Amino acid sequence: MFKQLIRSGVRTPAAAPRLARFISFDAAKQPRIRLGSEAPNFDVDTTEGKINFHNWIGDKWAILFSHPADFTPVCTTELGAFSKLKPEFDKRGVKLIGLSTEGVPSHKEWIKDIEEVVTNGAKFEFPIIADEKLEVSYLYDMLTEADFQQIAKKPVFTVRSVFVIDPAKKVRLIMTYPASTGRNTAEVLRVVDALQKADAKSIATPVNWTEGEDVIIPPTVSDEAAKEKFGDFNKVKPYLRFTKA
Ligand code: BEZ
Repeated sequence: MFKQLIRSGVRTPAAAPRLARFISFDAAKQPRIRLGSEAPNFDVDTTEGKINFHNWIGDKWAILFSHPADFTPVCTTELGAFSKLKPEFDKRGVKLIGLSTEGVPSHKEWIKDIEEVVTNGAKFEFPIIADEKLEVSYLYDMLTEADFQQIAKKPVFTVRSVFVIDPAKKVRLIMTYPASTGRNTAEVLRVVDALQKADAKSIATPVNWTEGEDVIIPPTVSDEAAKEKFGDFNKVKPYLRFTKA
């Protein structure tokens, strides 16, 4: 895929030097990240300076999302769209951080393009991790099987991973898309709303739920407890009860 991008004229400025910096990637030592796992911490350089990931998250929620490479078309549209939605993420107490496998100078050049063609001149609003050594990509397993097998041998891209991390630094939701499929910003906002609503009200959310719609009373809550906690509810089946939240 990397060669295809070079042939198609896609700029990948830091691709060649990257090979020299590969560390050892041992599948057996790779963290197993499950929902509820502590998000692996790391120190890294970004377009907004060096960070320690956990310190950077602080007491906010965070979305860490990977991008296969700089100056690639799908990523350009995604990063610009997420940047434009920063006020929506701010409202929810969520910090965004992108990742791509090139260096800060390359990312900064790319951001100029994103500001030119997607944000209509508005400033790009969040940091992008310079994961030249693929250390974060390895830690979070942001790679296809084939690329993981080749990681020490040739330049590889990440997939499009999304990790939603809560203020306790727990991984709360994971989405993984192939490089060819751009993510859906509305879905990322929707799942943040659903997670935060579930935390605040001890409820679950039904298919395609969006803020303002009825929620589901979990089966672990008795009718009596539901009445006390939620007041009125709609009992469609003993196990399917809707209420307002
Ligand atoms: C893109 O972001 O456009 C892209 C990256 C890698 C492969 C295919 C598309």
